[in-house]
Order: sequence, then C-alpha cells, then structure tokens
Amino acid sequence: MHYCPADDLGMVGLLDDLVVVASSITQTPENPHWRAAPRDAIAESREARRVVTRPEQTPNAHDRSESGISRWILKPARESLMFAHRKKPLFPVKVGEVNPKFAQKLLEQFGGRSGEFTAMTEYFVQSFACDKPAIRDMLLDIATEEIGHLEMVGLMVEQLLRGAERESAYENTLFSMMGKGPQFCDSLGNAWTSDWIRASGDIVADLKHNVSAEAGAKMAYDRLIRQTDDPGCKETLNYLMTREISHQRMFLKALDTLGGITAMEGTVKPEAELNTYYNLSRDGRGDQGIGVDERGPWNAEGEWQFVDEPEEKLSAKVEGPGA
Ligand SMILES: [Fe+2]
Ligand SMILES: [Fe+2]
Repeated sequence: MHYCPADDLGMVGLLDDLVVVASSITQTPENPHWRAAPRDAIAESREARRVVTRPEQTPNAHDRSESGISRWILKPARESLMFAHRKKPLFPVKVGEVNPKFAQKLLEQFGGRSGEFTAMTEYFVQSFACDKPAIRDMLLDIATEEIGHLEMVGLMVEQLLRGAERESAYENTLFSMMGKGPQFCDSLGNAWTSDWIRASGDIVADLKHNVSAEAGAKMAYDRLIRQTDDPGCKETLNYLMTREISHQRMFLKALDTLGGITAMEGTVKPEAELNTYYNLSRDGRGDQGIGVDERGPWNAEGEWQFVDEPEEKLSAKVEGPGA
C-alpha cells in the first residue's frame, strides 16, 4: 500500500487516516511493510489531529488473538465519530410468529429496488453534489435514518426465520439455500444493484426522483402490511411506512424552496413547445371499453395550447446529412 502523492496536506492526512484504519483491520505488525514510512509532514499532520498510529503509543490498545491476527484499536481523529451505531432500534421490533414466506417478501424492503439500502445509499450519494447546504443536511439526516430502517427490516427478517428450519415453508424459500438472515436481494432473489440508485448531480432532478422513490417504499410497506396478521409485524411496518410518507413530504417541501414540482432541472431553457399538448390518443369510445377522450388541467385551455389533430404539425421533414 502506498501513499497518494498528493501535495495537499489536508488530503494527504485524510488519505493517511483511511490507510491506517484499513491496515489496522487487515494487517499484522509482524509484516513491517504493511505501511510505508510516513513523511514528516504527514506525521505532524497526524499528530495535530491526535490520531494514534503506532502501537508503542497505545500500550493498552493492542489486542492479539490466538490466531496471531492483531487488531489495533484506534482513537478517533475527532471528538466524535462520523457514524456511530447504538444498539437500539428506532422503533420496537417484535415479531410474534416465525414466517419464512413473509420474511422473503420483506426482503423487498431490505435489498429491493425501493428498499432501505437503496434509499440510504441514494440520499447519501446525492448529498455530495448538492450545493444547497440546508437540503444537503436534510439528505444526510434522512440517509442516516434509512440505515436505522434497514436495521429494523433486517431484525424483522431474522425474527421471522428464528427456528424456521422445522417449517415446511422454509424449504420453499431462498433462505434454505442461502442461509438465515437477510440477504442483499429483493423478494424474488434478485441481487441488489447500484443501477437502482439515482444521483444525477442536479438537486431538482434528484428531489423529484426521491418523491417517486418514497412512493415506491410506501406502496411496498402498504402491501406487506396487508399480507400479515401478526400484530407486531403490522405495528413495525406501519411505523416504517409512516416515515416514508414523512420523507416524501420533506422532499416535496425542499422542492418547494426551489420552485415546486414544476421547477426545472438542468440549466438549458426549453423551447416554445413547452406548453403544447398533442392529442395523440383519439377516437375513444367508452361504451366499447377501450377508453374515452377526456380533458383535464394537464391540457386546459389558456395555459395549454391543445392540438387536437397534431399529425400535420408533427410531420416535419426529416433532414439528415446528405439529404
Ligand atoms: Fe426507510
Ligand atoms: Fe424513506
């Protein structure tokens, strides 16, 4: 492992912290080349940030297991850690009965497209590019809350599987082959993928997406609640569903501060066709069950230019190179 040849002392110090943490978990002091010798400037920077990096500086912080693998216990670089785990869920998780089939359905909210891991990762990643400090703070608050939700869903899955090997339903689920506990997949066994994350670098686009994502989470909990009779499950799921509604409202409020749901993402202005409505689905005959032609606020006269027969308007000549 080598130090990054960065000139920025702050950056070097930060990278050095990460190297130290990674090495403390995976390397042994018996392997002297587990770290390159730090430059004086790095050592000074590290000292200034009160990070302890050598075992002789921490006589009681060196724990050696019988296997010979040593782990160094590091003092935090700052007064408080960036993330900390408290062994206390946000809301009580108490499942009444073992139910492997329901546990598998619940995986949708653990490793599924609209699940808690997706939400947590998504809002966290979005926060980096957000140039609105207050909205960035909100994204981080909600992302961190979603970690708590992920833990609650995981605890529920674990409780729903406790002693489940004796249940015939267990044989029909993916748990019988992949093991107990929550898997990082959805209710159908599809592996979680970062393709499900939307982080566009544009906060308006991201907030609109987040409103939709929270609607997906709300619907998933809604369906789960309707598929269980277990009061403990219902109560916990109802709490989670309620919080997703809260998040959706927060995202909508944040969007309001940027111009509301019609706020424009990006920077390029639209052309004159913006308020034109093309009536491209016509000849509705409700009495034959194939739909009707209806109007609404989305194409109301005044604000919108309603083009009833747009074929002529839309039949512009295609002109390409050499045409
Ligand atoms: Fe959540
Ligand atoms: Fe949420």
